[in-house]
Amino acid sequence: MNIGFIGTGKIASSVIIGISKSKISFRKIYISPRNRKIAKDLKRKLDKIIIAKNNQQIIDKCKWIFLSITPQVGNKIIKHLRFKPNQTIVSFISTITLSELKKAVKVKAKIVRAIPLPPISLKKGPVPICPPNKEVKSFFDKIGSTIEIKNEKLSKNFWSTSGMMASYYELIKVMSNWLVKKGIKRQDAQKYITSLFLALSEDAVVNSKKDLKFLVKESQTPKGLNEQGLKEMSKKGVYKSVVKTLNSIYKRLNN
Ligand SMILES: NC(=O)c1ccc[n+]([C@@H]2O[C@H](COP(=O)([O-])OP(=O)(O)OC[C@H]3O[C@@H](n4cnc5c(N)ncnc54)[C@H](OP(=O)(O)O)[C@@H]3O)[C@@H](O)[C@H]2O)c1
Repeated sequence: MNIGFIGTGKIASSVIIGISKSKISFRKIYISPRNRKIAKDLKRKLDKIIIAKNNQQIIDKCKWIFLSITPQVGNKIIKHLRFKPNQTIVSFISTITLSELKKAVKVKAKIVRAIPLPPISLKKGPVPICPPNKEVKSFFDKIGSTIEIKNEKLSKNFWSTSGMMASYYELIKVMSNWLVKKGIKRQDAQKYITSLFLALSEDAVVNSKKDLKFLVKESQTPKGLNEQGLKEMSKKGVYKSVVKTLNSIYKRLNN
C-alpha cells in the first residue's frame, strides 16, 4: 500500500523518518512538494519517497493519507481535494475537529486524529489517537506508543501537555548553561544534563504504573539537596505556574 503526506514539514518528516526505521510495510511514500527543501532532503536520504506533483496526486495514489499541514492551510485546501470512501485519513492538525474534517472530506472515509511528536523520528513517544481505530493504533505502535481516546474533547488535554516540549528543553538548556558558566566544557555539560534527564525519564516510564508522587518522594533524602531543590522551586511557584500555563494553553485550544 502507498501512504501519503499532505504537507512536508516538521511533524511529517519526523513521522516519515520513524517509518523508515520501522517494520511498517508500505510500497511508496508520496509527499507534498512543499516544503521543497524538506521534501528534497527526504527523497535524497530515503528510498521509496516520491515527491508528488500536487496534493491531489497524493490522494489519487495512496490508501492512507496523513494531513500534516497547519490549521490555516487545512481550512483552505482540504475541501477542494477529492478523497475516496476506502481511504484512511489521519489528521495531525491541531485545531480542526473530526466533524469539520468529515464535512470537508465529504466522502465516507475513515478519519482519525493523531498527535505524534518529533521524537517519533526515533520511534519514541506517545501518540494519542481519536477515535480508537485498530489499524491506526497498530501503525503508530510500530513507531511509538499509541493511546486511544474515545472522546475528542479529551484529546485537547493531551494537546495542552504537548505544548510544554519547548519549556522542557529550555529547562535543560538553562541547567547546561549554568554548568558552562561554572567552567565546565559545553559538550560535557550537555552530556551530563541530557543523560541525567534521559535516565530519570526512563525510570519514570518503568514506574509509570505507580503514582509519580512516589518518585518525587524516593528521590529526596531528608534535609538533602533534592529536598532543598523541590522546596525552593515550590515556594517560588514554579509548579503552580506549570498548571496555570497548561490551563491557558487549554483555553486557547477551546477558542
Ligand atoms: N510540530 C509538532 O510537534 C506537531 C505535533 C503534532 C501535530 N502537529 C500539527 O501538525 C501540523 C503541521 O505542523 P508542523 O509543525 O509540521 O508545521 P510545518 O513544519 O509548518 O509544516 C507544514 C507544512 O505544510 C506545507 N504547506 C503549506 N501550504 C501547503 C499546501 N497548500 N499544500 C501542501 N503543503 C503545504 C508547508 O510548506 P511551506 O514551508 O512551503 O509553506 C510545510 O511544509 C499542524 O497542524 C500542527 O498543529 C505538529
